[in-house]
Amino acid sequence: MAKIAIMGLGVVGGGTADLLAENREKIRAACGEYLDLKYGLDVRDMPESPYRDLIVHDIAPIANDPEVSIVAETIGGVKHAYDYTVRLLGAGKSVVTSNKQLVSEHGAELLALAKENGCRYLFEASTGGGIPVIGPLSRDLSQNEITEISGILNGTTNYILTRKRDGGVGFETALAEAQQKGYAERDPSADVEGADACRKISILSATAFGKLIPPDKIHTEGITAIRQSDVSAAASMGAAVKLLGRAIKRGGECFVLVSPFFVPGKSPLAHADGVYNAISVTGNYVGDVMFYGRGAGAKATASAVVADLITAKTDASPVPTWEPAGEDFPTEFDSFVCPRYLAFSGIERNAVRVVFGDVTFLSGAEGEVAFITPAGTERECADGIARLSAGGGQLLSMIRVYESGERPEA
Ligand code: HSE
Repeated sequence: MAKIAIMGLGVVGGGTADLLAENREKIRAACGEYLDLKYGLDVRDMPESPYRDLIVHDIAPIANDPEVSIVAETIGGVKHAYDYTVRLLGAGKSVVTSNKQLVSEHGAELLALAKENGCRYLFEASTGGGIPVIGPLSRDLSQNEITEISGILNGTTNYILTRKRDGGVGFETALAEAQQKGYAERDPSADVEGADACRKISILSATAFGKLIPPDKIHTEGITAIRQSDVSAAASMGAAVKLLGRAIKRGGECFVLVSPFFVPGKSPLAHADGVYNAISVTGNYVGDVMFYGRGAGAKATASAVVADLITAKTDASPVPTWEPAGEDFPTEFDSFVCPRYLAFSGIERNAVRVVFGDVTFLSGAEGEVAFITPAGTERECADGIARLSAGGGQLLSMIRVYESGERPEA
């Protein structure tokens, strides 16, 4: 029987403890032995919790217990989680985590520490909630050159955008619903301003490319500026507004970004709604692979945490290493190319044609001119916006339009 500990008995940690108890026999079959929860580290006493007798308030009993060889970290944030993880890995104990902030900021160092000490640092639950994506990307797709990862990586914002589209529900109400369902971060600005998705695309691109791009080097936009009329404009052309994290390698260039996109209906990404995440991965041999499932919530995320507990117990494959990204990686964002949706007030269609050329006009809200530009760079788009603004136009919205990467020949 293997003894484990969970650090942080909140939404995800509590769900992990429940899953270990409820599916105990399934887990034994997968591991070859029972996984028994011995400690739950939490600042609270939690007298109502079924795990109250296991609660400790200090890392020492866990770090010093030779019986405990695997620990789940579901604390979140960096402060304590970093110190505890370093201490446990340093003591040769494997750590599995749902903590995307910690992995995206310190993953390279923590993986190196795990390698040095002959243990594992695993983070399936950090990205895509319950969707198995880190394991398949690092194992089953590792023989491919990955050319693109594009995905809906945040359940809270996808829930808000879906409610906006289907029910015309306002931002604040939809966010409150997502919080009530346990999807949102403790500080939901990390969801709605894109930081959470940014951490996840940083982790996915590091897993695929072996280089960790710190979140502060990733161009990141959230969903707070999206208007109901933008959502309607997208629907009018058969598209959906989705917050995407994207990592794209084209020729010698690599772009990593988080921003809202108009996703055309022909893409499966347009049809992942509510709390669901969808992640499209393109490899040079496998072509396109799509991952889909619940991106947040106690049970789905617990499923991924326990998957890693089982991997830590049973898998002896080499620990990966991540190099820090160099100065030229990713490529300067100004050269990113795509079509864009723009909405202006105070201008005529003719002025738009003069500046942007062969655009497609959409039926925007009253008093607005809404259109899709031809593909161009960020720099070209900014120049065009500046020219229309100088002519008296007021920019109301700019949303990129998703075009998937090239597919290998069938
Ligand atoms: N707040 C996150 C989300 C939780 O909404 O996707 C899962 O990482």
